Amino acid sequence: MRKLDLKNLKTGAEKEIKKANDLKSLNEVFRRYLGKKGKITRIFNSFKKIPIDKRRKLGRETNLAKLRIGKMIKEKSEKLKRSLKLAKIKKEGIDVTRPGEKVEVGYLHPLTLVQREVEEIFQSVGFSIVEGPELETEWYNFDALNIPKDHPARDSWNTFWIRQNGLKSKEKLLLRTHTSPMQARYMEKYQPPLRIIVPGRVFRYEATDASHEINFYQVEGLMVDKTMSAANFRAIIEEFLKRFFKTKIEIRLRPGFFPFTEPSFEIDIRREGGKWLEIMGAGMVHPNVFKAVGYNPKNWQGFAFGIGMDRLAMLKYKVNDIRLFYSGDLRFLKQF
Ligand code: FA5
Repeated sequence: MRKLDLKNLKTGAEKEIKKANDLKSLNEVFRRYLGKKGKITRIFNSFKKIPIDKRRKLGRETNLAKLRIGKMIKEKSEKLKRSLKLAKIKKEGIDVTRPGEKVEVGYLHPLTLVQREVEEIFQSVGFSIVEGPELETEWYNFDALNIPKDHPARDSWNTFWIRQNGLKSKEKLLLRTHTSPMQARYMEKYQPPLRIIVPGRVFRYEATDASHEINFYQVEGLMVDKTMSAANFRAIIEEFLKRFFKTKIEIRLRPGFFPFTEPSFEIDIRREGGKWLEIMGAGMVHPNVFKAVGYNPKNWQGFAFGIGMDRLAMLKYKVNDIRLFYSGDLRFLKQF
């Protein structure tokens, strides 16, 4: 193998690469020169027979030739691929001036919108937002709220109890039936005065209809201070409703019964067409609840409320069936 042979080999390869006008023939050229039995590979294989002193120089030159041919093939291959792509675009007739297809944007769920607005309003009058667990213990959901076992009021909250086979919890577990357990959890940890709201998902084992779901959202409110009266509650809630609905709405306060408040109320809002829809339960915090969390009921007073957020959304957006919020129907959800 002489220098001249190597040069000829290079020019030969160059010519063949130039001539190859598709990827297949270019591949052939690659095989002929750089493949396992290719010309360059064969030169390398023949080195064994060459005396060691000549081998090094020849090795370097052969390697350079190999690199050079490899580079030419790669460049040609890219060129061929580019023109293939162009030909394809031409054939398929892509019109680059055509406007792109619109990407569907996401929408916030109406219940998310309502929750955000509720939070904003209460924050602006000094309430903090806290959250609690959806999986609750019997103690916080009932006992701490002055609803002992066998108390008939437990029947108002049809409960999903958790099967606890093998679970090492002394407490009975359930899916919280309301956001009220966070009243007890929060008061246990913090001292008054306090103002909080607790938005969250709750669960009830009951039949569904146009205004009842088995899974829905509530927002709990709790305000505790040295002196606190039902008038304070009324003022706060009227201000909230005014800001939330932005129009004048008609509300009705009815006496209610909750073991954790005394006195207790229920509040309804008049819907279009004149029917009333219950939106919340409320009342003055019962002394037994203060006792259960370690407050002295002689020193503190408070009010609490639990609003059905789905009901707020129904009234605000004039939705007549709560189940639509959970239907996952995009035609419905796109409207908000
Ligand atoms: C309660 O859950 C009490 N924890 C509320 C409360 C809190 C009273 C603090 C006093 C002090 P009630 O079960 O009435 O109460 O539910 C409160 C609100 O949640 C109702 O007014 C209603 O707006 C909504 N709600 C109740 N059940 C459902 C349901 N199945 N589907 C949708 N919304 C519901």
